[in-house]
Amino acid sequence: MSLRSKLSDLSTLPGLPRLPGMAGLSRLRSTIRDAATVARSLGSGVDEAQQPPPPEESQVVLRDVPSSAHVRAVSPPPRAVEHVDKLPPEVLRAPSEIAYDWDYSARRAELRTLYEKSKDLMWNARTDLDWSIDVDPEDQIVADAFNPIFGTDIWRRLDKKTEVPRLRRHIASYILSNFLHGEQGALMATSQIVASSPTTDSKLYASAQVFDEARHVEAYDRYLTTKIGLIYPPSKHLKQLLDTVLTDSRWDFKFLGMQILVEGVALGAFGVIHQTAQEPLIKRITQLIMQDEARHVAFGVMSLRGHYEGMTGSELRDREEFIIESSRLLRDRFLAQEVWETVGLPQAECEQAALNSPMMQLFRKLLFSKIVPNVKRLGLLTPRVRRGFEELEVIEYESWEASA
Ligand SMILES: [Fe+2]
Ligand SMILES: [Fe+2]
Repeated sequence: MSLRSKLSDLSTLPGLPRLPGMAGLSRLRSTIRDAATVARSLGSGVDEAQQPPPPEESQVVLRDVPSSAHVRAVSPPPRAVEHVDKLPPEVLRAPSEIAYDWDYSARRAELRTLYEKSKDLMWNARTDLDWSIDVDPEDQIVADAFNPIFGTDIWRRLDKKTEVPRLRRHIASYILSNFLHGEQGALMATSQIVASSPTTDSKLYASAQVFDEARHVEAYDRYLTTKIGLIYPPSKHLKQLLDTVLTDSRWDFKFLGMQILVEGVALGAFGVIHQTAQEPLIKRITQLIMQDEARHVAFGVMSLRGHYEGMTGSELRDREEFIIESSRLLRDRFLAQEVWETVGLPQAECEQAALNSPMMQLFRKLLFSKIVPNVKRLGLLTPRVRRGFEELEVIEYESWEASA
């Protein structure tokens, strides 16, 4: 199946926003077609003849758990794992409120529905994924079109047999490592929400989300360690945002930062990866995680609805600045600055190429297609935030249908 038809297949595109009516649908189709056209015009067709070889015979069978008909507990032997600038363990001080709720009755029906859905749709990263699939980390796990320097003079100068495959592995690792670190941040932020949210309804749902995030950490970590064998540290942009969300004592900043902004961007990125990935295991991992993340964003919207009505002055100003600054950090997170130096490519030239790449420009804009409508839905698309989104050139998404 071609990249164009994959991108055009809206029925399997839960990571991108639903649009109102036919007009909205055709706009999304045309945006996705644009992405596919750009990819194709850049010559990004993936060689479909290059399928991964079948799994090796020497597979390790996990015997410490009960097996069932659907259990796939086989895996190739682990690769040696390389780390790029591995960070040491770190402890942050995070003042936080702990809220009891002695009323256990259901008062928010929609949160209880979301909680039930979470339990019904839980999956197991160990048994519901086919870890026996052999992955070539130097093939296009992430389509070349999403390499920030794809199609540039620097790309053309690379040796196609040695340097391109090496760069592919590093870019895939960079993107997936940042997903992994984002998942750790989500795991901890959601555990804070369990403790600090004021109602049993939200505590129960948040606890289900904690377990979702644990499985996301598990799945990305296992993929990176056993299939790619290379892990990058968090990008400085992501780390700065996670630190802010986790150490701010105001509960709504955790929802706003994690559920609306970080997870909103993640949904957009997962959607593109899911649609364009050629490697079946990462495609399936991304699909399962996206189903969970859509609920997480919905939880954020439900929890914050009405919270900002009537908020004025410095309190509102704090939220506005947080949204604008966080959006900048998230947009710049995908420029892969850390990769160029690591692989020995000219830093400034690669950064400029990434900024100029039409595919990356489209990709970085699409990341905001959930954030902007959700911020508007929460009543936070104030004149100041609007100006911020205009500067980021993402205000066009304000009329798209919000997530929930
Ligand atoms: Fe997650
Ligand atoms: Fe999440």
